[in-house]
Amino acid sequence: MALKCFRVSLTLFCGFWVVVFCDQDGFLSLSCGGARSYVDSAKIAWVSDNTFISTGNTTTVEYVEGTSSSSVPLRFFPESQGRNCYKLPVKNISSVVLVRAQFVYKNYDGRWKPPAFSVSLGTAITSTVNLTNKDPWNEEFIWPVSKDTLPFCVNAIPMGGSPVISSLEVRPLPQGAYQGGMEDFPNKALRTCYRINSGYTNGSLRYPVDPFDRIWDADQSYTPFHVSPGFDILLSFNLSSQKESPPLDVLQTARVLAREDVLHYNLPLQTLGDYYIVLYFAGILPLSASFDILINGDVQQSDFTVSTSKASTLYFTQKGVTSLDIALRSIRFYPQINAFEVYEIINIPSEASSTTVSALQVIEQSTGFDLGWQDDPCFPTPWDHIECEGSVVTSLDLSDINLRSISPTFGDLLDLKILNLHNTSLSGAIQNLGSLQHLEKLNLSFNQLTSFGSDLDSLVNLQVLDLHNNSLQGIVPDSLGELENLHLLNLENNKLQGILPLSLNRESLEVRTSGNLCLSFSTMACNDVSSNPSIETPQVTIVTNRKHTRRSHLLIILGATGGALFALLLTSLLVLLYIKKRKTEATYATSPVIDMRNWNAARIFSYKEIKAATNNFKEVIGRGSFGSVYLGKLSDGKLVAVKVRFDRTQLGADSFINEVHLLSQIRHQNLVCLEGFCHESKQQILVYEYLPGGSLADHLYGPNCQKVSLSWVRRLKISVDAAKGLDYLHNGSDPRIIHRDIKCSNILLDSQMNAKVCDFGLSKQVTQADATHVTTVVKGTAGYLDPEYYSTQQLTEKSDVYSFGVVLLELICGREPLTHSGTPDSFNLVLWAKPYLQAGAFEIVDDSLKGSFDVESMRKAALIAVRSVERDASRRPTIAELLAELKEAYSIQLSYLAALGHSG
Ligand SMILES: *[C@@H]1O[C@H](CO)[C@@H](O)[C@H](O)[C@H]1NC(C)=O
Ligand SMILES: *[C@@H]1O[C@H](CO)[C@@H](O)[C@H](O)[C@H]1NC(C)=O
Ligand SMILES: *[C@@H]1O[C@H](CO)[C@@H](O)[C@H](O)[C@H]1NC(C)=O
Ligand SMILES: *[C@@H]1O[C@H](CO)[C@@H](O)[C@H](O)[C@H]1NC(C)=O
Ligand SMILES: *[C@@H]1O[C@H](CO)[C@@H](O)[C@H](O)[C@H]1NC(C)=O
Ligand SMILES: *[C@@H]1O[C@H](CO)[C@@H](O)[C@H](O)[C@H]1NC(C)=O
Ligand SMILES: *[C@@H]1O[C@H](CO)[C@@H](O)[C@H](O)[C@H]1NC(C)=O
Ligand SMILES: *[C@@H]1O[C@H](CO)[C@@H](O)[C@H](O)[C@H]1NC(C)=O
Repeated sequence: MALKCFRVSLTLFCGFWVVVFCDQDGFLSLSCGGARSYVDSAKIAWVSDNTFISTGNTTTVEYVEGTSSSSVPLRFFPESQGRNCYKLPVKNISSVVLVRAQFVYKNYDGRWKPPAFSVSLGTAITSTVNLTNKDPWNEEFIWPVSKDTLPFCVNAIPMGGSPVISSLEVRPLPQGAYQGGMEDFPNKALRTCYRINSGYTNGSLRYPVDPFDRIWDADQSYTPFHVSPGFDILLSFNLSSQKESPPLDVLQTARVLAREDVLHYNLPLQTLGDYYIVLYFAGILPLSASFDILINGDVQQSDFTVSTSKASTLYFTQKGVTSLDIALRSIRFYPQINAFEVYEIINIPSEASSTTVSALQVIEQSTGFDLGWQDDPCFPTPWDHIECEGSVVTSLDLSDINLRSISPTFGDLLDLKILNLHNTSLSGAIQNLGSLQHLEKLNLSFNQLTSFGSDLDSLVNLQVLDLHNNSLQGIVPDSLGELENLHLLNLENNKLQGILPLSLNRESLEVRTSGNLCLSFSTMACNDVSSNPSIETPQVTIVTNRKHTRRSHLLIILGATGGALFALLLTSLLVLLYIKKRKTEATYATSPVIDMRNWNAARIFSYKEIKAATNNFKEVIGRGSFGSVYLGKLSDGKLVAVKVRFDRTQLGADSFINEVHLLSQIRHQNLVCLEGFCHESKQQILVYEYLPGGSLADHLYGPNCQKVSLSWVRRLKISVDAAKGLDYLHNGSDPRIIHRDIKCSNILLDSQMNAKVCDFGLSKQVTQADATHVTTVVKGTAGYLDPEYYSTQQLTEKSDVYSFGVVLLELICGREPLTHSGTPDSFNLVLWAKPYLQAGAFEIVDDSLKGSFDVESMRKAALIAVRSVERDASRRPTIAELLAELKEAYSIQLSYLAALGHSG
């Protein structure tokens, strides 16, 4: 068999390697802990394992066997570490491979304490290795491949010592092998127990006798009785129907019983389980044998005939056995068998949904910690912080980890029953949990949450809600009472006040309220915000108006007792409310006429004008979490984009005016221009110039996707434009502005395909000239969020650079930052693309660009993109550096195209 060389590129979780090795038709032979490559006596090429695994320490043992001694390298893993995984590349998906591992302890550490640990392939725990009993220990599996990499892991078990491994081999098997007779066991793997070359006693045979490098052991000591010599007659067989392709050499010998009796193989098994038995027969004798086949005493096949020169294979399964007795009972002539194999049948648990896996990966990234979450969350052993039911993630406990906000990704963990975010520095409103319909227990205690939000209403299965030691303010919403299954509601140590909804007053529900300003069901009063305990509490009932609870319109009924004190109190309360109301109205009334002298060209529109311009809000051209954007036409014929904020996203009047003022200051050719605004009738409306080219996201992913027209040079031009806009925000404007939500859908194109950055809705001004960062509640879009900002809450210009880097990666790869398809390694664009681009491996470049870009131009853009998404913000370039690099990449591509034009 000729040696062939091929290149395997594989992405591991934390790095990238291009491995060049020689193989025998797809063989992969890893010398675990070995430093050198070598070819063994069977001409099999071995390589070091260090590019296939990133954990563990290596050492070498002197291994004495009989008179010869050899040194064996090995790799061992700290006991404290759960999973230690090799990522084995597999060439052909939907094939079957043999995976073989050897474990050697040989007292390498001088402690005479051989370890025990478990071994897993993919999601299945396949066996327990116990080196106390046997050293070296061999394990071999037959695995149905379904992905291009196969995780092979050794997993520490409690008190087991540190796992150790010395070699690992992968061998492709013939297509369709080892599937006959397995109909009752779909999607199962096999663990080798016996593979016997019947009638052959001179050692074991493997590669090159078996081109698939299975090891066929000699036929010894399995049947103490009836030992007969093997026959060795060379005949040729038509083996094309033998799916397993047993080697001819193996079929050339047989165990034959020369008397009319029963031929037995008694095979002890390690564990109680289900087993798969493959028997090989070949007609190497001049006479046809005929016999019954019994397994554990039951006839499986009666009167089976082996005809001269014919080969056949039989498959059997046995459920729930601890030993096997394979017996051939003579009928006519002598029973014979040429080879057999016995396998334990191993269940392969199904994988967690890709949505769950990618959501968890994003959450891990946002914590800024390496939680060690790799491969499947549930199998072979659940990840730390996670519990599963089957392959479904039902519990997530991130208590004491700094999260700072409940990111939208949590909403993807649809099967969660228990979510514990105790002490995770959450602030603001409870949000992004509305989709968790199975949630039974939600623990948000010890945070700085200030409002209930509106998501809790949808958690219909909620049984326990723990909100103690937060900063929740105001009243407890009525809707909590509608959670019928709730039996514990802990509101202790918040800043809540008022009457609890009566619907919470039921026997099945325990409500804990101590440590709040004033909170109870009773008709006992909560007199005032500044509840003065020295004032005698008057008897009042405060009935909340169900329709307007949030607006706290209170109807106050005078109770039986009261007196002058209460009257006084009531009066002052009413006066207070009145003043407050006046104040709000005043703000609305006066704000539009504030000093307009330094407002540049921004106009104030009346609501009537807006209605007319948008033809009564007829054509929606965009939607977002903030509200909707409508197409409008001003009286002078100019087209505009009219952005109307939802009620709930409205800013306070002052903040709105501030924002408008800020926006009106910004004039730059690569920033979408604010035409004016409307602040009337409780509306907050911004009017922008209209860009007919749509957003970059539309062009890359939109429904009538015009991706083809976005050539590399055009993409570079767009990125240069957008970088100019961002550079102006960071360096040109006063105050400096951090955009906070750079993404493809916020880069708009005009009719000449010039790009402009839009949506400063979330932007933050850095007021002091020397301030290096501002601390804020994390906002932005999943997939674009700077992980460092996420974990520190310190917002700097480098957060925009990170998001911009993600946009560049999208332009290069033509895919969105987060996807739920493909392998988990590819869900997150940054994690996936970075190693390829760092290595200059441009096979991941968008297919529609292939063959049309200058490599140097691509390299420049790729490298600056990769630097921009560095986790460590200080290692990211500034936007100015980024812009300079992009300009260069752009001009290189331009000259490349010009040269093409000349030659063509
Ligand atoms: C394993 O390697 C780590 C660092 O790579 C080292 O700190 C540790 O001491 C090593 N353990 C042993 C047992 O050699
Ligand atoms: C991969 O497997 C398929 C069958 O699923 C087979 O037809 C094909 O030849 C195999 N390719 C290689 C390169 O082995
Ligand atoms: C390993 O084998 C030893 C000796 O038979 C036994 O005492 C020990 O319990 C085994 N460990 C495991 C984890 O099976
Ligand atoms: C057994 O095999 C060895 C090589 O592995 C060979 O040298 C020897 O001749 C064989 N003996 C017999 C009896 O075939
Ligand atoms: C081998 O057997 C298959 C059917 O099992 C048949 O199609 C093929 O022609 C045979 N080949 C030879 C060389 O006899
Ligand atoms: C909260 O978590 C921090 C670590 O992030 C820990 O130091 C602190 O003790 C925890 N507090 C509580 C009340 O659990
Ligand atoms: C919430 O989590 C904390 C820390 O894990 C725990 O002490 C507390 O009992 C939990 N609350 C409930 C209701 O289980
Ligand atoms: C919980 O809140 C109460 C009241 O505000 C406070 O006394 C207590 O110290 C808080 N517990 C912790 C661990 O911060």
